[in-house]
Amino acid sequence: MNDPAEFVRSTIARLPTEVPGRAIIAASGGIDSTTAALLVEKALGDRARAVFVDTGLLRAGEVEKVGSFFRTSGLRFDVVPAADRFFAALKGVTEPEEKRRRIGAAFIRLFEEEADRFGADRLVQGTIAPDWIESGGSLRDTIKTHHNVGGVPKDSRLTLVEPLRDLYKDEVRAVAHYLGIPEADRQPFPGPGLAVRVAGEVTPERTRRARVANAIVEREVERAVAAGEIARPWQYFAVLLDTRTVGVLGDNRVHGDAVSVRVVESVDAMTATSMGLPRPVLARIAEGITRELSGEVVRVLYDITDKPPATIEWE
Ligand code: XMP
Repeated sequence: MNDPAEFVRSTIARLPTEVPGRAIIAASGGIDSTTAALLVEKALGDRARAVFVDTGLLRAGEVEKVGSFFRTSGLRFDVVPAADRFFAALKGVTEPEEKRRRIGAAFIRLFEEEADRFGADRLVQGTIAPDWIESGGSLRDTIKTHHNVGGVPKDSRLTLVEPLRDLYKDEVRAVAHYLGIPEADRQPFPGPGLAVRVAGEVTPERTRRARVANAIVEREVERAVAAGEIARPWQYFAVLLDTRTVGVLGDNRVHGDAVSVRVVESVDAMTATSMGLPRPVLARIAEGITRELSGEVVRVLYDITDKPPATIEWE
């Protein structure tokens, strides 16, 4: 892509042929799917309906934040509450790829139902080039099945429409900026949500811990950015580990959880570098997490691995 204006013009011109009837848009609140959604709404108008799924795997305050983000972006949307379904689908599952498959299947079933209700036969997703490349589209081995690529069964009655599939993240940001989408430089958040930030079984309780820890990392990193202590990282988050460890609470020993903090710099997520944070910022993160999850999380680790060999998310 050379020119965002030309990309927007040609995509809007092409979409009505690709979607002769109605389309459901899977809108996650991320830059990719919001950009895809706006392009499709501009091209199809009332023949498109954006759906935001509350999976129960979202970050703190995300439903409200995404809602206001869509409103300022000018996107019409509906929220579908579905936490019970997602936790039921994830019950007993610990293997990362299996989690992604279950989440993908739950998403597709839900979108099929919503599509039936709306009379749509097309599903719009914000898939971008690294998603399908890393899901086995061109690399020999599948690195990770991104839910927006791996979860669509061959027999689904929905045909996928992916207006951004040839773009890389920096190009999507240029298009988003051109479309007037606010805060186009927000950090990416994976489609499977906190499920890939909870190592081991994903229960509502363990997800709550990961959510609290994530919120503290976001708060402290954003404060440090605002204070000029650090440059804005590409991504910054916490992962609840499936290792139990011993800590001290008052006069007692407690057996609690451990959390790993990951802050990375990157340009397109294909490679990434672990970012060195100043000691006071690290201390505020560790103190915040162990205080707000007192007795539950007793140890905070900092992930110093680059990508490769590690991926950005833990799972
Ligand atoms: P990894 O962990 O593969 O992540 O190095 C690369 C980038 O992709 C995001 N990510 C996802 N995005 N669905 C998404 O839409 C997914 O399943 C998914 N998994 C990882 C990750 O946050 C990083 O920005």
